[in-house]
Amino acid sequence: MTSTPDYAEKIPNNVDLADDRRLQRALESWQPNFLSWWESMGPTLPTRDVYLRTAVNVGREGWAHFGHVAMRDYRWGIFLAERDPDRRIGFGEHQGEPPWQKVPGEYRSDLRRLIVIQGDTEPASVEQQRNLGATAPSLYDLRNLFQVNVEEGRHLWAMVYLLHAYFGREGREEAEELLHRNSGSQDAPRILGAFNEETPDWLSFFMFTYFTDRDGKYQLGTLKESAFDPLSRTCEFMLKEEAHHMMVGTTGVDRVVERTVQLTVEHDSDEVAARGGIPLDVIQKYLNFHYSVSLDLFGGETSTNVANYYTAGLKGRWLEGRRRDDHKLTSDSIMVDTVDEDGQIAQAEVAALVGLNTDLRREYIADCEGGVKRWNRILESAGLEARLKLPHVAFNRKVGAFAGIEATPDGERLSAQEWDLRRGEWLPTEVDKTHVRSLMRPVHERGKIAAWIAPPRNGINGQPFDYEYVRLA
Ligand SMILES: [Fe+2]
Ligand SMILES: [Fe+2]
Repeated sequence: MTSTPDYAEKIPNNVDLADDRRLQRALESWQPNFLSWWESMGPTLPTRDVYLRTAVNVGREGWAHFGHVAMRDYRWGIFLAERDPDRRIGFGEHQGEPPWQKVPGEYRSDLRRLIVIQGDTEPASVEQQRNLGATAPSLYDLRNLFQVNVEEGRHLWAMVYLLHAYFGREGREEAEELLHRNSGSQDAPRILGAFNEETPDWLSFFMFTYFTDRDGKYQLGTLKESAFDPLSRTCEFMLKEEAHHMMVGTTGVDRVVERTVQLTVEHDSDEVAARGGIPLDVIQKYLNFHYSVSLDLFGGETSTNVANYYTAGLKGRWLEGRRRDDHKLTSDSIMVDTVDEDGQIAQAEVAALVGLNTDLRREYIADCEGGVKRWNRILESAGLEARLKLPHVAFNRKVGAFAGIEATPDGERLSAQEWDLRRGEWLPTEVDKTHVRSLMRPVHERGKIAAWIAPPRNGINGQPFDYEYVRLA
């Protein structure tokens, strides 16, 4: 069972850490390393305090507390969702058995790998976003950035807790490595491609929190199904926090589109760049980039590793419990993307188990469509003809079946030469990026907002937009 966290403790937690001295000491010795990583790789803008949400419990009634805290004193805690004594493994060869409270020896290295890959993404995004505070369009946005950053820090804690508690010396070594690898580093980069890309401006930040944090949601969703109960409970609670990150992305893009629409209508011209806005075609290019690199995070169309993880019960499907099949998939099939002998984009039928990456990516794509619909409603209700859209799955891919080919956002094949000539039509060019960066001037005054983005409809935790969300140092 979980206990109630005590904030007087060095490491707030609901896992009875005080009862396990060895583990407590191990985590307390990792803590200063985490803090020095935060100091050197975390947010660069000096602040006095920030209006932040801190997780204080996992129950239904009020799990978070809001208040001004100095960021260095933020209480990164360890929280697992309540243990369900009736839970049963929902899929694979152990379906129906009670979940594991310890790691079975034969799955040790696979589970460790899954936790490390997830864990690596958490600090990576903090590193990618570290300089954004200097150009925040409002104090509200600045606060949201920092909220996302501290919670990604907490997600690192969540994974490090599992590594320390269940994987012995190797787990402790991996926990160190999570602080040594850095986003974009030449010698020790982060594990996954999208987490080594830059997040140099706020349009990128909103696209990142929409598309890349959403990949995180889907990965956590599969781990939440895990037969390894502590992992399942950890991910369940992380998903709760993750929802806010995606809200930041969804409404962030809303507000950029809304401002672009306003400028277009006001001046009856789509030359919004000259008027301090971001043109819709530039928004589309940023969308194309972030969506396509996020699709790569789901891996190849087929994977025998992932099939084995599923059969073993390590990692399930998105909303496994709602799937109407046998949850073993040994006799099912799925159509996956491929490139046929003529080099054309095609589909091939494979065993459902090896196609699980495709299954997850499709769930993700369907979810991404939701954002595009929403942004298009803003365009539509202003009477504009233009629309945003998700590019074809073959567009700009570096992983999987389409890694070796080039395609337009409509899914037409291109030669490498044509791609080089035309990529600037679909991906942000230096000119586009320079324009976007030129707009990134800080607005750190209460109740004010930059000219390239509309204000939010709602503040945080019922506070107004002009609330003092951040006090700068
Ligand atoms: Fe996260
Ligand atoms: Fe996140």
